[in-house]
Amino acid sequence: MSFPLPLRTHFRDASPLVYGCMALGGDWGGGPLTEADIAQAHAAIEAALSIGVTLFDHADIYRRGKAEAVFGELLKRDAGLRARLRLQSKCGIRFGDDTAPGRFDFSADHIERSVDGILQRLGVEHIEILLLHRPDPLMQPAEVARAFGRLKAAGKVGHLGVSNMHAGQMRWLQSALPEPLVANQLEMSLAKLDFIDAGTTFNDPQAATRPGAMAWAGTLEYAQQHGVQLQAWGSLSQGRFNDPATSAAAQVVHEIAETHATTANAVLLAWLLRHPAGIQPVIGSGNAERIRACGDAVKIQLSREAWYRLYVAARGQALP
Ligand SMILES: NC(=O)c1ccc[n+]([C@@H]2O[C@H](COP(=O)([O-])OP(=O)(O)OC[C@H]3O[C@@H](n4cnc5c(N)ncnc54)[C@H](OP(=O)(O)O)[C@@H]3O)[C@@H](O)[C@H]2O)c1
Repeated sequence: MSFPLPLRTHFRDASPLVYGCMALGGDWGGGPLTEADIAQAHAAIEAALSIGVTLFDHADIYRRGKAEAVFGELLKRDAGLRARLRLQSKCGIRFGDDTAPGRFDFSADHIERSVDGILQRLGVEHIEILLLHRPDPLMQPAEVARAFGRLKAAGKVGHLGVSNMHAGQMRWLQSALPEPLVANQLEMSLAKLDFIDAGTTFNDPQAATRPGAMAWAGTLEYAQQHGVQLQAWGSLSQGRFNDPATSAAAQVVHEIAETHATTANAVLLAWLLRHPAGIQPVIGSGNAERIRACGDAVKIQLSREAWYRLYVAARGQALP
């Protein structure tokens, strides 16, 4: 099955599914990596590669750097691994400490220092994509552009993207950049439907309003019009549809999974893949068996009727 992925403009081998590395690297404390952490990460990465994933998603904060560190350890142990994948990481979130609260930081100094840390932990000289993790209200687009320009010129970062930004924020940042933003990673899933509701509930006084839905207005449209790759985090709904007995929506997910002789997780991903924007779901499971089972998603073509059955069951309100 072919998928219309905007990211293929930049990487011809871009895969419909992305692997999210937040579950790798052991605990969130400061302890050292263990051999068990390394073995778990190895199994997860190989499982993701086995289902055709070529893009691996990181952030400097995942497991406080240990997700990147364990990945770096595996890149060091297997000289051929780097050539089989592309690396994406994020910066811009800072944890609180004695001197300041948790905050977002898109200052040039922080972005450039973060990238040096990312490269050092991964043990590489270059990452293909850098995402700005969460919008910083103090962002100055020209300052971000200067930082990215220096990182690009030094060969440290190939492309810039964002995460959790709406259309207006993307447009504002893009106005200062000499090249296009390549991706926007947002929480989108059957458990987080505001990205769809923003369009379907507009001008419908009967519709239940979902908090935040209107802030999405134009975000999917902006991405499609400007070739920005949408990536869905939380795509497995963090396991919420795992048990068919827990909700009417979970039951529908499992019924459709049975029709396609597959798992509930594959149906959740296929539902995102069916959207014409060419959304890349980011798989966050750390379990190799569950990751492999996600591979079915690219083989399933949900009918329009099945797509709407899932949407309506999950939103819990009939259309129109
Ligand atoms: N840009 C952002 O702001 C942002 C925020 C959060 C995450 N992310 C990225 O997106 C990726 C995915 O996000 P996510 O981890 O929040 O979402 P997810 O993929 O929806 O959920 C993964 C979690 O759900 C569990 N799970 C999945 N299927 C299950 C099942 N059938 N039964 C039981 N548990 C199940 C997994 O447990 P197991 O590990 O045991 O399978 C794991 O804890 C992350 O790795 C990260 O790369 C980005």
